Amino acid sequence: MPVITLEQLRANKTRDSLYVLLHKKVYNVTKFIDEHPGGDEVILAEAGQDVTEAFEDVGHSDEARALLPGMFIGDFEEGSELKIKSGAAEAQAKRVAGAVEQGSNLMYFIPLTLLGGYFAWRFYSSGGL
Ligand code: HEM
Repeated sequence: MPVITLEQLRANKTRDSLYVLLHKKVYNVTKFIDEHPGGDEVILAEAGQDVTEAFEDVGHSDEARALLPGMFIGDFEEGSELKIKSGAAEAQAKRVAGAVEQGSNLMYFIPLTLLGGYFAWRFYSSGGL
């Protein structure tokens, strides 16, 4: 069974080629939109996106659901939307970790410099150890 990626879903959102994501499955509704009792506009407006909420809000009948297998083209790639989000989250986490590391380097550097300065001062002011 083919797996449809988020990119593929987004790339098919015109009247000539129209995919929708419904309950984690992808349907090619290109031929159906002209026959849709709810009109083509509503589906076109949601094209290339997850229509699950809109579809369920309408309360589609069992007859409507029975049409779906005929338009089914593949499962939606598991977590592809999540991947995009976690990619951004990872980058953010790296930035935070970098900043924290920089901060803690400074935390060691300042006291060590002061300590070094103190001993240098003692050394020079007492004319040796
Ligand atoms: C993608 C697959 C879809 C199929 C197979 C489908 C099928 C149908 C069918 C057969 C009806 C007639 C009433 C019924 O049997 O429930 C209907 C009505 C309707 N559909 Fe869809 N639909 C789909 C998607 C959508 C989407 C994504 C929306 C909204 C964004 C939508 C909005 C509506 C509306 C508003 C009606 C009511 C029309 C009326 O009662 O005048 N449909 N649909």
